[in-house]
Amino acid sequence: MSQSTIPHSPFRVIDLIRKKRDGGALSDAEIGYLVDDYTKGDVPDYQIAAWLMAVVLRGMTREETTALTHSMLHSGEVLDLAFLPEKKVDKHSTGGVGDKTSLVLAPLVAAGGLYVPMISGRGLGHTGGTLDKLESIPGFRVGLSVAEFHRVLKACGTSMIGQTEKIAPADRKLYALRDVTGTVESPYLICASIMSKKLAEGTDALVLDVKTGSGAFMKKEEDAIYLAELMVETGERMGKKMAALITDMDQPLGRYVGNALEVVEVLEVLCGEGPGDLRDLCHELAAWMFLLGGSVGSIDEGKQPSEKLIRSGEALAKFREMVKLQDGDPRAIDDPARLPQAKNKVDVTSPYTGYVQSIQCERAGTACVILGGGRERKEDSVDPAVGFVLHKKVGDTVASGDPLCTIHYNSEALASRARTILLESFTISDQAPAKQRPMVHRVISKSGEKK
Ligand code: URA
Repeated sequence: MSQSTIPHSPFRVIDLIRKKRDGGALSDAEIGYLVDDYTKGDVPDYQIAAWLMAVVLRGMTREETTALTHSMLHSGEVLDLAFLPEKKVDKHSTGGVGDKTSLVLAPLVAAGGLYVPMISGRGLGHTGGTLDKLESIPGFRVGLSVAEFHRVLKACGTSMIGQTEKIAPADRKLYALRDVTGTVESPYLICASIMSKKLAEGTDALVLDVKTGSGAFMKKEEDAIYLAELMVETGERMGKKMAALITDMDQPLGRYVGNALEVVEVLEVLCGEGPGDLRDLCHELAAWMFLLGGSVGSIDEGKQPSEKLIRSGEALAKFREMVKLQDGDPRAIDDPARLPQAKNKVDVTSPYTGYVQSIQCERAGTACVILGGGRERKEDSVDPAVGFVLHKKVGDTVASGDPLCTIHYNSEALASRARTILLESFTISDQAPAKQRPMVHRVISKSGEKK
């Protein structure tokens, strides 16, 4: 009698679905089996969809979350950056409107002597994406091969690219399924999805900027804290130095929203100018990157190189160098008029006199998407030139007829829709708003400051 050549799995998917459905915890081996066999195509979508829904409803233990992250991470290529002589450190934001800090931080921290290997994403929903912003620089290539990524990193200390086909393929499959089965909204699944991609880039330390407020995915602060704690603990269990800052996304960050417009504001910050909220957040995040990278012993100490590297022009020079190495036009760094420009501009004016009480940030982000600056569908291309520049932010006084913002547009019809949404996003009232919360609401880190 011949022996069967079909390998026997030690598990039955139906048993694992039932176990999670009934509130049990899966072992590392069970989770590894589900992820590996789903990635290979050996488990059908309908069974994984049922298991994902059970996770949404029942949650996961910390051990299960780590096992899921580990399996998703090792479903593909994990970059080995051991050939670089200094520590590798990165930052990840959960997404916001006008959040362009990555473009400041990568060159800034690299200019300070650490390596910053950054694999980023595109705009999602009403939020902007680092890759779309970088691609507004004429010629800039985000689709480098791993060999090119290594070469740029070695040459200038930082490189910013998109996820390759080979990085965390399990996440690509699982995310697409979650997107159509109502299973995106689980902190455990979000944690594993983000961390598996970020840890694949070979970083030693990761600073998370977890946004909360009307423009964030985690609108409630307690949800942002829960996710931040989960990601910090998962990263630490996997041997990484971690910190998470819970930061404000109740209005757009800085004044510029839109891909090329945000690059202009990045250049302002790298020249020591730009709006205070954006500058302060960049210095805070850079200080945490320097601390986790071991270059300084405290956050206060970490802000010193951050400020100095901007004053001296070294951070700007590093950005120019990276742009050149990734085939971007370095002349755009010194002459932003070379960045894509919208054909038309129009002011949105205030109908009232008073104080800006709030700016509904998700709506403001949606206005940018409608202008063409983001994607309505995954396959849409973005218009790099469009967006808006805010003239008033929360707490500012405004007189009737004052411009609240200026829309940069290429289509009258889209500008008209965006204008209505932007106007609706502002609340103007007679009363000054309550004192605003600081930009950084809370920090979660066991790595702590060395005193
Ligand atoms: N971003 C990701 O990369 N994954 C999620 O699950 C949610 C947001």
